[in-house]
Amino acid sequence: MQNFEFYNPTRIIFGKGTTASLAEHVPVDARVLILYGGASAEKNGTLAEVRAALQGRTVREFGGIAPNPTYETLMRAVAAIRADKLDFLLAVGGGSVIDGTKFIAAAVDYEGDPWEILTSSGANVTRAVPFGTVLTLPATGSEMNSFSVITRAQTREKLAFGSPYVFPRFSVLDPTRTCSLPLRQVANGVVDSFVHVIEQYLTYPAGGMAQDRFAEGLLLSLIEIGPRLVAQTDSYDLRANFMWIATLALNGLIGAGVPQDWATHVIGHELTARYDIDHARTLAIVLPSMLRVRREAKRDKLLQYAQRVWNLHAGSEDERIDAAIAKTEAFFESLGIPTRLSAYTIGADEIDALVTQLEAHGMTALGEDQAVTLDISHRVLEAAL
Ligand code: NZQ
Ligand code: ZN
Repeated sequence: MQNFEFYNPTRIIFGKGTTASLAEHVPVDARVLILYGGASAEKNGTLAEVRAALQGRTVREFGGIAPNPTYETLMRAVAAIRADKLDFLLAVGGGSVIDGTKFIAAAVDYEGDPWEILTSSGANVTRAVPFGTVLTLPATGSEMNSFSVITRAQTREKLAFGSPYVFPRFSVLDPTRTCSLPLRQVANGVVDSFVHVIEQYLTYPAGGMAQDRFAEGLLLSLIEIGPRLVAQTDSYDLRANFMWIATLALNGLIGAGVPQDWATHVIGHELTARYDIDHARTLAIVLPSMLRVRREAKRDKLLQYAQRVWNLHAGSEDERIDAAIAKTEAFFESLGIPTRLSAYTIGADEIDALVTQLEAHGMTALGEDQAVTLDISHRVLEAAL
């Protein structure tokens, strides 16, 4: 196993009706800014619950943080926080609102051009305004991690940063808050969390026995509940399991002490930046091709995945690997998520431009072994046509 440091200070408050407990977790004398996305949190009553829990406190609101949150919108929130001397943030929404809040938290007191937070991948961040979250969409794990992905609309760049200063102080996870999710977002969440596990698991053997078994447990659970979630939307138990699985998929635990890939995510971010395809949908396109192109480097783990996750025991090694990748693809498709670029009418003539974007962002040596060069990324995209 590799050396590692594990740190995760986020308090999780999980279960039905837990939004009311915000009163205990937001400091009494805080000057609070509630941040949210479009209309969903208002429509499904989440904002009403939040406001009720914080009645009598000093509270302002900032809405309109759209999916794939933009630097341009977030900087307006930064200005409002500075003007009103607010000192505690509360994100109410999915990954986009939480990621946006992380960026805002880091930008408020940042000396210099805040875009550097992204270009330095977070290395320049030395403090952040404290914040909590009320999660409404299980998918990204942002509610219990220190990562954030921000888009600059003007230049169509989508970059990530991470910093120990942007762990949420707490996250309220009430599964009933997810009941209003459109099926599209439920399916997206299943695929995103599935691929988060894969990025930390399907690399090369590193002797992380518990990490592997945890990862396989999360994958098996997603395979079990994914189709049921999209068919039977009102089950509390399914929703509760989904919410906790998505959090566990990217809160640092399964990735400690083992190699991590993330090449699929990096290429996916370029697809979102250029074509506005939902984050999870970009992963469903890239992952199967990535596994096919990288099958030699990933051979041992692909065989383990085939056996332990898909229960494939018959046939030659190559047949088992092919079958495991085909099953992964079929799983995504069964949730209504396409696995080909052609589903978005993206053709071979677009690939050069995507690879140029990767190059511009320095994404020239990706993967657990830095072997995913621009040439390999090109091949992965071609294989996904
Ligand atoms: O804007 P509103 O009206 O709130 O609607 C949202 C949005 O349109 C809606 N929604 C959220 N909760 C709802 C709901 N609709 C009905 N009922 C509810 N309870 O869902 C839509 C999508 O929301 P968004 O927050 O964009 O989705 P998601 O949670 O999938 O977040 C995606 C973003 O997270 C980044 C992605 O790149 C993308 O920008 N990621 C963040 C990561 C992290 N911080 O660790 C890791 C991920 O790999 C990912 O890159
Ligand atoms: Zn993701």
